[in-house]
Amino acid sequence: MVLKRPLIFLGPPGAGKGTQASRLAKLYNVPHLSTGDMLRDHVARGTELGQKAKPLMDRGELVPDDIVLGMVEERIARPDCANGFVFDGFPRTMPQAQKLGEILKKRNFPAPLVVNFEADHATLIYRLAGRRTCSVGGEVYNVHDHPPKVEGRCDNDGGELIQRSDDRAEVIRDRLAAFEAQTQPLINYYRSTGDLAELDGTAGVEEVNKRLLDILARHGADGNRA
Ligand code: AP5
Repeated sequence: MVLKRPLIFLGPPGAGKGTQASRLAKLYNVPHLSTGDMLRDHVARGTELGQKAKPLMDRGELVPDDIVLGMVEERIARPDCANGFVFDGFPRTMPQAQKLGEILKKRNFPAPLVVNFEADHATLIYRLAGRRTCSVGGEVYNVHDHPPKVEGRCDNDGGELIQRSDDRAEVIRDRLAAFEAQTQPLINYYRSTGDLAELDGTAGVEEVNKRLLDILARHGADGNRA
C-alpha cells in the first residue's frame, strides 16, 4: 500500500489518534511519529530534554515549541521517512504547524492530509481512565474495550501493563484545557488550507479504521484507492 500524502492526526487526548496511527503506519509501511512517545522516551532515558519535558507533561501542559520542533526536524530527516509518515499529536500549536509546513515544502513532500478526530468529553475520559500500556513494547490496551488476555500483562511479550502518569483525572482535565486553548485553532487553520478532513472518532476501533480509510481514499492519500 502506498501513502501519497503525509498524515497528521489532530484531536483531543483519548480520541484514538495513537491507536489508528499505529495501524495505518503498519498498513502503509511508514513510521508512526508520536511526539508524545518521543518525549516519554526522553523522560525514561533521563536526557536533558526529558528532564525539561517531564514536569510539564506531568501537569498536562504542552512542551515548548523549540524542543518539539527540534525533535521532529531531526526525525523526519531520517531515511525511513522518505515515503511519508503518520504524525500523531503533532503539530499542536500554530508555530508548530507553520514550521512543519516549511519543513514539508523544503523536503518536497505533498500537502499533508489532516484528520481531525472528534469525540465528546465523556468518551475521552472513559477511554483515558481505561488505557494501559505495555512497559516493554508500548502496545496499548484498554481495560474496558480491549483488555489483555491475562490481566496486567501484554499479550505480545508478557510485559507489565502500566497506566500513564498523565492519565489521572486531574491531569486529563488540564490536557483537555491545553487542547482547547492551543490546538483547537489548528482546525480552522487546516480548514482554510483545504487539508482538513473530519472524523467521528466515537465508534469502535474497527469502524473508525474503516471511516479513516475511506477518508484517505477520498482525499487522494491512498495510492491504491485514490
Ligand atoms: P500524547 O502522548 O500525544 O497524548 P495525547 O495527545 O494527549 O493523546 P493520547 O495518547 O492520550 O490519546 P490518543 O488520541 O492517541 O488515544 P489512544 O489511541 O491512545 O502527549 C502527551 C503529552 O506530551 C502532552 O500532554 C504534552 O505535554 C506532550 N506533547 C506531546 N506532543 C506535543 C507537541 N506536539 N507539542 C507540545 N507538547 C507535546 O486511545 C486512548 C485509549 O482509548 C486506549 O486505551 C485505546 O485502546 C482506546 N481506544 C482508542 N480508540 C478507541 C475506539 N475507537 N473505541 C474504544 N476505545 C478506543
